[in-house]
Amino acid sequence: MKIARFSRVGFILAAAGSAVGLGNIWKFPYITGENGGGAFVFVYLITVLAIGFSVMLAEMLIGYLGRRDSVTSFEELAPRHKGAWKYGGFMSVAGLLIMTFYSVVIGWIFHYIAVAAIKLPDSVPAAESAFTHMLQEGVLTQLVYHTIAFLVVTAVLVRGIKGGIERLNLILMPMLFLIVGGMFLYALNLDGFSKAWAFMFQPEWHKLTSDSFVTAVGHAFFTLSLGMGAILTYSASLPKKSSLVRSALAVVALDTGIALLAGLMLFTFLFEYGAEPSAGPGLVFISLPAVFYEMGILGNFFAVIFFIALAFAGLTSAVSLVEPMVQYMIDRFKMPRFLAAVTVGLFFYFVGIIALLSNSSEYGQMLTFGSRNFFDWIDFITASIMLPLGGLIMAIFVGHIMEKERVESILKPQFGKLFGVWYFSLRYIAPVGLVTVMLHLMGILTF
Ligand code: TRP
Repeated sequence: MKIARFSRVGFILAAAGSAVGLGNIWKFPYITGENGGGAFVFVYLITVLAIGFSVMLAEMLIGYLGRRDSVTSFEELAPRHKGAWKYGGFMSVAGLLIMTFYSVVIGWIFHYIAVAAIKLPDSVPAAESAFTHMLQEGVLTQLVYHTIAFLVVTAVLVRGIKGGIERLNLILMPMLFLIVGGMFLYALNLDGFSKAWAFMFQPEWHKLTSDSFVTAVGHAFFTLSLGMGAILTYSASLPKKSSLVRSALAVVALDTGIALLAGLMLFTFLFEYGAEPSAGPGLVFISLPAVFYEMGILGNFFAVIFFIALAFAGLTSAVSLVEPMVQYMIDRFKMPRFLAAVTVGLFFYFVGIIALLSNSSEYGQMLTFGSRNFFDWIDFITASIMLPLGGLIMAIFVGHIMEKERVESILKPQFGKLFGVWYFSLRYIAPVGLVTVMLHLMGILTF
């Protein structure tokens, strides 16, 4: 059987499309705001390089050599205990779980494209009550948009790697770069820009807490789409002659670049109109619409294209969250792609509805367990536990289990002298960082 492969550009755009997502434009700015700015950005950048890049390359290597779904790839590459290592591949379940709420958030964004075009809220309190109202009372609205997200993502998955995923990314990613780049250039000329620059790049170390470190590592994984087999699954369709090192560098650079541009742009608008950078998850749904209102009709225009860019970023990531599961069902159960895509789609659609309802005032109580509702539990379990665990498994697998000669034979020619630096950080720095983070999260290690 001839397998459809990505083109080289197609792969980089698809992997960057996976990486550049809500994490970059929605989450990164608000966690930077909550964690005090510059010092956090600094820690995050170091983490992305020392841990993120190392694990990304390891994950790419597993997919590239395995050439199959994540479970089979682990099984085939393990020199011994194949039966046990194959469970490493099951981390792709995390993507399916993330997708349940990710699809709901993409739905909010669709709704906000309409809000931006029709009527922006005229103050921060008004914006806040509109957002809360949507969460708690707007079940039907959210359901409609969640359904649209489900339909789009499933339709792309049904069309496969070339005709679906590659094509989607070839169209949406350049448009996303244009929008973010264009808005950034506009922001560059506002007075707020210098404040935004100082906020993001002048570290005030005392604002850093131990939680900031943990958040930085967790986010480095989330934003680079690591730890659950998304990059692995895409890499299985890499053209034979590709340089993994270059591809990984390109993806990390694009992802970090977009996060920094989006952050600078958002903070410029916020500072220009006197809004707070530490607004939390509501930053782009509450503070930003109110700020855009101040700009008059130009604000409506900016708001519309901003939310369109956010939707594009979300959709290209969404397909990568579930493709590993689809690929798994195709490879292992010989399911036709159509059936696999629809099954996976229906799963995240229905569980997504539960997540959506858990924010509502009517069903919220019923769907709250302990300190979190269903929506927040899934976010917490996936981003804070499953992704770091998946990353740890991959780092150990490539760094300690696979034969060094095999890893070396592929990567040394691409790396040259720096191979040893990467291999060391994969073997020691990444695992120590990840274990520290997980222990801290579980409350076992406090610092
Ligand atoms: N990286 C995406 C973001 O920043 C989210 C994402 C897509 C993801 N695929 C993933 C996260 C796989 C972890 C694993 O929004």
